[in-house]
Amino acid sequence: MSSAGRFITFEGTEGVGKSTQISNAAETLKAVGVDCIVTREPGGTPMAEAIRELLLAPRDEPVNDLTELLLMFAARAQHLHTLILPALEKGQWVLCDRFTDATFAYQGGGRGVPLERIALLENLVQGDVRPDHVVLLDAPVETGMTRARNRGQLDRFEQEAVSFFQRIRDTYLARAAAEPARYNIVDAAAPLEAVSAQVSELMCKFQSDLL
Ligand code: TMP
Repeated sequence: MSSAGRFITFEGTEGVGKSTQISNAAETLKAVGVDCIVTREPGGTPMAEAIRELLLAPRDEPVNDLTELLLMFAARAQHLHTLILPALEKGQWVLCDRFTDATFAYQGGGRGVPLERIALLENLVQGDVRPDHVVLLDAPVETGMTRARNRGQLDRFEQEAVSFFQRIRDTYLARAAAEPARYNIVDAAAPLEAVSAQVSELMCKFQSDLL
């Protein structure tokens, strides 16, 4: 990527502790003098957040896989072009809670949308923009599902069966294995202090690699 800032995304199945680790990553980076912003997908701008509400709301009407896929990329186009890229161009680092790896995992692995269709939209919406680093918080599906269920009301995705999330986890792990230089797998089932230490270490490494 030609941008001055670094684009780092955090991925994983439900309840793996992404929010906690993104806050931890942002604090670590700020402590070493890196100017960063935290954002999320689907969402990140008022319009993209409105699309998020459409996507997450449980509804009686069956949602077509292509409708879901296009809404994910509609939100992403808005978010990427109005918020993420301008921030990177200003030299800020962008920490994003999910990005297109989630589409490959959820819509591709989970729903069964052919991966070539997703790749087509990825190229259309993003051109050659890809995250510089992906932090994959990995834990057995059941561990995360229990945490997600304890948070209360389940959204449209969280209501899916365990097998759906197993396919998602497998897709994430396959993508990480295919491109180990860009993906960093963190064992999210480890004690919180250990997970936080590993994420902080990664942030420091990403920064020192630039020096
Ligand atoms: P969150 O709960 O991590 O904020 O994410 C919202 C939900 O949206 C989560 O269940 C994963 C799902 N999602 C997709 O299915 N595809 C995508 O491309 C993204 C970004 C999220």
